[in-house]
This record gives sequence, C-alpha cells and structure tokens, in this order.
Amino acid sequence: MSLASGSRLILGIDTSCDDTGVGIVELKPGGGVQVRANRVWSQTVHAQYGGVMPELASREHVERIDGILGEALGEAGVTLRDLDAVAATSGPGLVGALLVGLMYGKGLAQALDVPFFASHHLEGHIYAAASEAELSAPYLALVVSGGHTHLFDVPQAGHYVLMGATRDDAAGEAFDKVARLAGLGYPGGPAISEAATRGDPGAVPFKEPLKGQTGFDFSFSGLKTAALLAHRAGAAPDDLAASFQRAAVQTLVKTTVRAAQAAGRQTVVVSGGVAANRALREAFGATSLRVVFPGQGLNTDNGAMIALAAAAAIEAGRAPSPLGEGAVAYAPLAHGQWPAASPK
Ligand code: KG4
Ligand code: ZN
Repeated sequence: MSLASGSRLILGIDTSCDDTGVGIVELKPGGGVQVRANRVWSQTVHAQYGGVMPELASREHVERIDGILGEALGEAGVTLRDLDAVAATSGPGLVGALLVGLMYGKGLAQALDVPFFASHHLEGHIYAAASEAELSAPYLALVVSGGHTHLFDVPQAGHYVLMGATRDDAAGEAFDKVARLAGLGYPGGPAISEAATRGDPGAVPFKEPLKGQTGFDFSFSGLKTAALLAHRAGAAPDDLAASFQRAAVQTLVKTTVRAAQAAGRQTVVVSGGVAANRALREAFGATSLRVVFPGQGLNTDNGAMIALAAAAAIEAGRAPSPLGEGAVAYAPLAHGQWPAASPK
C-alpha cells in the first residue's frame, strides 16, 4: 500500500448494536482523510426475534471481530504494525455489545503501543460525511438512524447544540415498523425504499406530524398508526410504502430547512442509516442548502466513521482517551439546547 509520507493510519471499531464494523482511515498531513477499508458484519441472528437480542449481539461480536479486522487490514493492504492509532465506540449503544469493541480496541492499542481514542457513536455518524467533503463548522447535522433522530447545530467543530429530536420513534425504527406491518421484510428502510418505487406516493394521505410547531422536533408514531390503519383498510403494500416514505421524508426535510434558516446555517450533514434513502437524498437535493451525505457503505453503522471521528479529534489536537474509559448506554452528545447554547 502506498501511504503519503507523514500520513497516519487510524483503525476504527463499532460494535454498538448488531453490526460488527472495522474501518481504516488514512489521515493525510494536510488534514485530508481517505477511507482505506470498511468491513461490516451485519448480524442476521436477530431476524427470527423481530428485534436485536443484546446478549446474542455481544456473543456474535466476540465471534466475528477478529475476522472482520483481518478483512479490513487486507482491504487496506496493511498490517497491524502500520496502525498509528486505534478508536472504538464507547457509547451510546448496548453496553454488552459496546464492551466487545471497546475492550478489543484498547487491548489492540496497548499491544501496538499506539494512542487509543474513544468515539461517540453519533459523532461517528456525523463524521461519516467527512468521507465526501471537508466538514467545516458551522453546519447543521441531522442524524437519522434506527435508534436516533437528532438535529444538531454545530457552531464550532466538536460543539453540538440540540435543536430537535424525535418525541417517540426514531426515523429508521418507523421505516422498520411500517415495513413489518406491510409484510415487506427487515431491515425495513431498504424494503420500503424498494417497494416505494412501484407504489403511488399519493395513494394514502398522511397528516404532517407536529404541524405548526415552532420548534424542530420530529414525531413518527402518528405516521406509523396511520400506516397500520391504512394497511387494515386494504392499502396495497407498495402504495403504503411510497406514501409513508413521502410523508417521512417531507417532515425530515421541512423541519431541517426551517432549522437551518433559524440558525443561519447553509450546510447540512445528513447521516445515519436513513440517509441511505434515495427519496430523502433527492428531496434534500432539491432544497437550496448545501447537503453532505456519507459515502457509500458509511450511512449505516460501521467502523470507518469511528476512525473518521477520531481523525478529526487527532487533527484538533485532542488528547487520547484514558484506557479506563468505560462503555455507556446513554451518552448525550449535545452541550445544550438551542438557541441558548449556540453562538452564531
Ligand atoms: O445507522 P444504523 O445502521 O443504526 C443505528 O445506529 O440505529 O441505521 C439503521 C436504520 C434501520 O432502521 C434501517 O431500516 C434504516 O437505517 N435504513 C434505511 C435505509 N437503509 C437503512 N431507512 C430508509 N431508507 C433506506 N434506504
Ligand atoms: Zn448508528
């Protein structure tokens, strides 16, 4: 492998939920980054239960992580000795699952005698977009995944101010639930997106969630209930998928555009599993905002995004994390609530 002189290689590990992700990122002398490897093992063992079984997730991370690391090293064409830093997610997520990657990463860093960085899972999702464009604050960040729907203002790098969040289901969770009730399979996001290409988005009328709110929150439970009622009334799955997707995309885009205007930001990073949705990308593309999405394979959970977040931390001169840092199920990223905590 050719490495620009002065470049550093960062290994990133994410085992926060049901994906075992290992990625390798090259941090170039000028601060540019390049994803050299991104390998993910998506656990299928949970499908039979209809949800993630935490203990099974932990065990499968233990079984898979060596193999996925080997694949990532092979993809990048490097060996363990070439690594300059190791990063792993410390939270939020399933504690047992997080611990596998966190302990593995710390052990690896210690054995290789390189610095260790604990990364925040949501910051990882945001920095996944650094694979496509340099993220220079100020900007807004919309994280839409299976577990999170958060809208942050980022006035300065590393400073997150919460503008809004879901009041009930996460966006991806709503896609998953609607797909399940319509018999479209799991994970629901890709299934809905595919079925929607055959359906009529105007077939089922959905009411706009939180219409008239002055804040920037989201709500998906009303859409989910409306989808269930439409399904019971005989709506075709493809029509239901197309109509639900349109309603979900509209509320995400409309609220984010309003938030960007309120905060005076021109750039929006949209990341997390739902950012893979084509209709969402098109709808954001039709706004006047500069919208940055993660590159292919970096929307859903992965290790490269954790290495990208660590690369930003290293560039910013952040000190490595203490090896005593533990895994945390609940770890707020924001430093406060908008507008009070947001310098313009
Ligand atoms: O970021 P992620 O891998 O996990 C969490 O951190 O939660 O996101 C997974 C979520 C799932 O709910 C999945 O249905 C959704 O992202 N998703 C999508 C698409 N691809 C994945 N939702 C809508 N459209 C997609 N194409
Ligand atoms: Zn995630």
